[in-house]
Amino acid sequence: MKLILLGAPGSGKGTQANLIAEKYNLPHISTGDIFRENIKNETPLGVKVKAVMNTGDLCPDDLTIEMVKDRLSKDDCKNGYMLDGFPRNLTQAKALDEFATPDVVIDIDVELAKIEHRLVGRRSCPKCAGSFHIDFIGDRQNCPICGEKLIIRKDDNVETVKERLSVYKSQTAPLIDYYKNKNKLRVVNGDQSIDKVFCEIKKVLG
Ligand code: AP5
Ligand code: MG
Ligand code: ZN
Repeated sequence: MKLILLGAPGSGKGTQANLIAEKYNLPHISTGDIFRENIKNETPLGVKVKAVMNTGDLCPDDLTIEMVKDRLSKDDCKNGYMLDGFPRNLTQAKALDEFATPDVVIDIDVELAKIEHRLVGRRSCPKCAGSFHIDFIGDRQNCPICGEKLIIRKDDNVETVKERLSVYKSQTAPLIDYYKNKNKLRVVNGDQSIDKVFCEIKKVLG
């Protein structure tokens, strides 16, 4: 199965991707996670994208497309994969069509007014990519899954979240129609509990 997860920042792509990866045994390819790993390790790619990621804008298309193309060529993607955070604009979607065709695109639909609260209260695990919210874990400092110290992402502040939402509206939201026109799109309601969202996704994936 070749799956794309669409959705605004904070819609729950990462949260659902972790559940989907486990149940369907699919490699979870998050372009945001790959960029963050490169920034942490101070690689040449990390150095190039650090500043732009911290502002909430998109990293350059050529770098991003090349990175995904390379990742999808790996052995573990032969039987399918799940893309989280890619494509994010029409240029990327058209480029992806040249080297890989998705079977299904799931849009996790959340009212944009709820996003700021979700992101500003998020705590992320740098080790297992777990994503949590202070509403649920309180002031817990360590990952409930693997025990690693939780972090607050550099782009999870009010100002950067506003910029990420504006980028989403102008550049990523048009992909909803792009995939609708290709008959690939399935929309799930992301404004319900994590379990219920996952149930809807399981119905889509069968
Ligand atoms: P990326 O890492 O992809 O971030 P994003 O798209 O902004 O999405 P998030 O990871 O913030 O949210 P999510 O949907 O995964 O939500 P989560 O499950 O964590 O990208 C970051 C940056 O990298 C970009 O800004 C850009 O600079 C660069 N980048 C990445 N891909 C790129 C590309 N293709 N091209 C160019 N640049 C790229 O959940 C969020 C919060 O909500 C958590 O606190 C969680 O606990 C909570 N939550 C989840 N589900 C629910 C629920 N059902 N109910 C209540 N709370 C919930
Ligand atoms: Mg994410
Ligand atoms: Zn963890």
